[in-house]
Amino acid sequence: MEKYFLDAQDLTKTFPAPKGGDPLTVFENQSFGINKGEFICIIGHSGCGKSTILNVLAGLDEATSGVVLMDGREVAGPSLDRGVVFQHYSLLPWISSLRNITFAVRARWPSWRKEQVLHHSMKYLDMVGLAGAESRKPSQLSGGMRQRVSIARAFAIEPKLLLMDEPFGALDALTRGIIQEELMKIWEQTNQTVFMITHDVDEAILLADRILLMTNGPYAHIAESVIIDIPRHRERTEIIHHPNYYPIRNHLVEFLVKRSKELANPEMRTQVEPRETRKRVYPPNVNPAADVNSSSNKIIDLEKHKA
Ligand SMILES: Nc1ncnc2c1ncn2[C@@H]1O[C@H](COP(=O)(O)OP(=O)(O)O)[C@@H](O)[C@H]1O
Ligand SMILES: [Mg+2]
Repeated sequence: MEKYFLDAQDLTKTFPAPKGGDPLTVFENQSFGINKGEFICIIGHSGCGKSTILNVLAGLDEATSGVVLMDGREVAGPSLDRGVVFQHYSLLPWISSLRNITFAVRARWPSWRKEQVLHHSMKYLDMVGLAGAESRKPSQLSGGMRQRVSIARAFAIEPKLLLMDEPFGALDALTRGIIQEELMKIWEQTNQTVFMITHDVDEAILLADRILLMTNGPYAHIAESVIIDIPRHRERTEIIHHPNYYPIRNHLVEFLVKRSKELANPEMRTQVEPRETRKRVYPPNVNPAADVNSSSNKIIDLEKHKA
């Protein structure tokens, strides 16, 4: 079997019963893999369990059962090998944007000299377009600028895996577009592996190599891994004209509107075999653009036939 850089195997997460209630199984026996350097987005309705999965991958939360392997080693607790960006930036408010980054960089490379730490941190502030704002404290920055500092900090520690939970959810459309472009630029330069949650279909198509589709919960599952067959370098204004764009987009929207609910049948779980006898199941790779291309080929063939 293919060896993934990040291999989530048979993950189950059950939250214990609140007083007088039932326990909640968010997802059960879910497996998926991420290759090194891949940009993966995950989409699914609110409450289906995306953040729970991300927290397990980050080592911030423990799965009830199952394991996550990164580079062949089990993820057990948080590590500087994994950088996390949340929707609401989590900067230290009393120090400058530059110090917020140097703080993390020093923790990552304790033996570095002061100038090296500063130089490295400035490089990443510059990458997100914030050179000149390095001495400002978070309260003196706009929401978009703060989120850029969070992203610069996460990239600056050069984690093996970057995890982002709806990082642009709180931003206006214009700022979001600019930061998406910066993110893609840094990702192309640094060859990071990224796992990102978004509820924005267009954002996912722009950024991702593959998009994982998650059904509604409880007992949510990752139904498909959708291949984004659109060449890079991608530009926001250009990719909508690519012939594969709308077949992919329609497929994603159809999943969110219809199949995420239809597939969320709790009966599904009675078909789950006991862990001991069951084969691990990874979501199938789906290429909506290839499907369309092949059916249009079929149409062309039929036309030929008529002639
Ligand atoms: N600490 C917790 N205790 C109990 N239930 C939780 C906890 N965290 C999340 N949940 C529940 O788990 C489900 C999935 O939550 P979450 O992963 O945040 O969803 P998403 O990120 O997809 O919106 C939701 O029903 C949520 O209420
Ligand atoms: Mg969430």
